[in-house]
Amino acid sequence: MSELRKQDFPLSDSLSKLHMLIYQQLEQEQRTNPVSYVKFSNAKGRPYQSYERIQFEGLRWSVEKRISTYGLERYFNPNSTILDIGSNYGFFVTEFAMYVKEAHGVEPVPELCRIGEITATHLNVHDKTKFFAQKFEDFQPDCLYDTVFSLASFFTTDKKQRSSAEEFFGKIDSILKPDGEFFYESTSYQKSPGSEDYEHYVHAQKAFDVLKDMFDVYESYEAQSGPENQRLFVACRRK
Ligand SMILES: C[S@@+](CC[C@H](N)C(=O)[O-])C[C@H]1O[C@@H](n2cnc3c(N)ncnc32)[C@H](O)[C@@H]1O
Repeated sequence: MSELRKQDFPLSDSLSKLHMLIYQQLEQEQRTNPVSYVKFSNAKGRPYQSYERIQFEGLRWSVEKRISTYGLERYFNPNSTILDIGSNYGFFVTEFAMYVKEAHGVEPVPELCRIGEITATHLNVHDKTKFFAQKFEDFQPDCLYDTVFSLASFFTTDKKQRSSAEEFFGKIDSILKPDGEFFYESTSYQKSPGSEDYEHYVHAQKAFDVLKDMFDVYESYEAQSGPENQRLFVACRRK
């Protein structure tokens, strides 16, 4: 088992306790999940998500930086209920819970949902959050959403998401309110055929085709993700 990298700077007592609880879950997840992102070679033992609010460092930019870079503040609305598909440690859910009526995450790895719950309790947003420990494909929500996010959760590297683009985005369409919004971030890809992450490019293109057909796409762009890879971003609303 690769060594989990932990923060080596001093933390307040309450943050030390929170980090300890989070790492307990991550250690358990490493034991039980054969495709834990911590085990991937590019992670080098680093956790996946980062969250400045709780001084938690991972592999990806912090949720705060991703929210501001992707312009996700546009979805901060005190009357909205939002869903994050593949919510991972739940840090987008807890951050969004500060600005919306209710924030839900659906994530098949139970330890990761537990991290979301622990963090929500620490941040006093527990009453505004819900985590569903299941695959999106099996998720039966009891409400319609104002906004749904799929951030690197379609055609995942862990191979736990493999339904077709039509099924995946069709289900999103079916759980959005009539004027609901959807924001998509692809997994990270390389464009040259034969390269390690080329398959992710093919699926990002497939996702884009289906989104253009199914939704009203009003923003789309590609951005660099690390030295060799890129990601596609699409903002759209229900037709
Ligand atoms: C690459 S990570 C992205 C995490 C997070 N969305 C982010 O961007 O920070 C993919 C996440 O999707 C989850 N996942 C994998 N298959 C899924 C499925 N079928 N339904 C929902 N989530 C899934 C994984 O467990 C993991 O937490």
